[in-house]
Amino acid sequence: MEKRANFGSKLGIILASAGSAVGLGNVWRFPTEVGSNGGAAFICIYVLCVLLLGIPLMVAEFVIGRHTHKNTADAYRQLAPGTPWVFQGYLGVFTSWFILCYYSVVSGWTLKYLFSAIAGKVTTVTDSAAYFVEFTSHPWAPIICMVVVMLLCHIVIVRGVQEGIERSSKLMMPLLLLIIAVLVVCSFSMPGSEDGLRFLLKPDFSKLTSSVILSAMGQSFFSLSIAMGCLCTYASYFTDDARLLKTAGSVALIDTTVAVMSGFIIFPAVFSVADVSPDAGPGLVFITLPTVFEMAFAHVPWIGWFFAMMFYLLLLLAALTSMMSIHEPTTAFLLEHFQISRRAATRIVTLSCIFVGVLCSLSFGPLSDVKFLFGMTFFDFFDFVSAKVFLPVGGFIISLFVGWKLDRQLVRDELTNQGTVKMHFFSVYIFILKWVAPLAIGLIFLNELGLFS
Ligand code: PFF
Repeated sequence: MEKRANFGSKLGIILASAGSAVGLGNVWRFPTEVGSNGGAAFICIYVLCVLLLGIPLMVAEFVIGRHTHKNTADAYRQLAPGTPWVFQGYLGVFTSWFILCYYSVVSGWTLKYLFSAIAGKVTTVTDSAAYFVEFTSHPWAPIICMVVVMLLCHIVIVRGVQEGIERSSKLMMPLLLLIIAVLVVCSFSMPGSEDGLRFLLKPDFSKLTSSVILSAMGQSFFSLSIAMGCLCTYASYFTDDARLLKTAGSVALIDTTVAVMSGFIIFPAVFSVADVSPDAGPGLVFITLPTVFEMAFAHVPWIGWFFAMMFYLLLLLAALTSMMSIHEPTTAFLLEHFQISRRAATRIVTLSCIFVGVLCSLSFGPLSDVKFLFGMTFFDFFDFVSAKVFLPVGGFIISLFVGWKLDRQLVRDELTNQGTVKMHFFSVYIFILKWVAPLAIGLIFLNELGLFS
């Protein structure tokens, strides 16, 4: 039998996992949530959620993946054969496939905006809302963009773990961090940027309703890629000397830094232009920001052009590294479970996601009248079911599985690398998984279903 692939270095492990975590969720969704939920107060709660729930759950997935060195479905089959827990393994694989179908559509938009920014269109268009709607509702233009990003992802995945995922993460992640640093400096140097900084740094706790707190939890899970099979799959390629807690801490630190820095890029820029609002919702990066780039740099248009180009390149890189991690769980499952080649497995995942992605993309245009449950379009349905149903259900089951079902010694051995490294607060960790995480996730779930609004 062929030897199973591994990541080649600890740096590769951290950068690949951080690449999964850092995605549209950080640059697109996080600033949107901060803008709509009152700025710094939201960030404080978000950081608490990452520390208290995000990191423990990430480590739980690492334990399952690294111990078994198997794809997510087979990992649960090995750890709890013949029990209903096996369901979670299949759910993880299915969730990642499901997410890829619509995540690739928004990733395609970032490609279009990158090209438009290079061509100077983003910063000169007169009505950016109309420009966005015209593009997303076009029958084939967003599909082409989606197919191109899927193919880019395909090229990486087909090359395998070290040559594909690890190598491209080592290239793209440093570039992404460099772009962020450049953009933060650009944004801070804009006149009037202090108001944006004040908005981000001064907490207004009166804005914190229970629903905002639960949104922060949901956002932290999405951003850290929890409960979607990909952390578990990546961990199955970790070497035995990788330190799980340290890796989770580094990934969470990089992910949160990128999210907050994205806020530092966006809000000073937004506040430097008097008549745009910071709580523009999901249109923030595709509708509000083009106006900001144009108005803020009207006196030196080439800076606006440069800023826009760098920003959409950042968005595209973030999207691509996450797409790779969403592609891999299903590919690894098909490859190992059905003993087919990586090439064939990758092809099946790419083609099936493109097929469903086309439907999701068309739901902004020709299929906008085709509605599912509760009047949702294809895109809304995929977004809702994966992020709001599968994610909390998966997180709930994972915390119970590792907290209650898995052998305590097995968990301890994984966390301490068979007793070779120290682990403080092991019982606190288990307590979080047994009680705190399931309870908190249960609340997120009920909130997302609208039970508290
Ligand atoms: N964490 C990614 C983001 O913040 O955009 C999104 C994501 C990656 C979701 C991997 C799911 C996943 F499996």
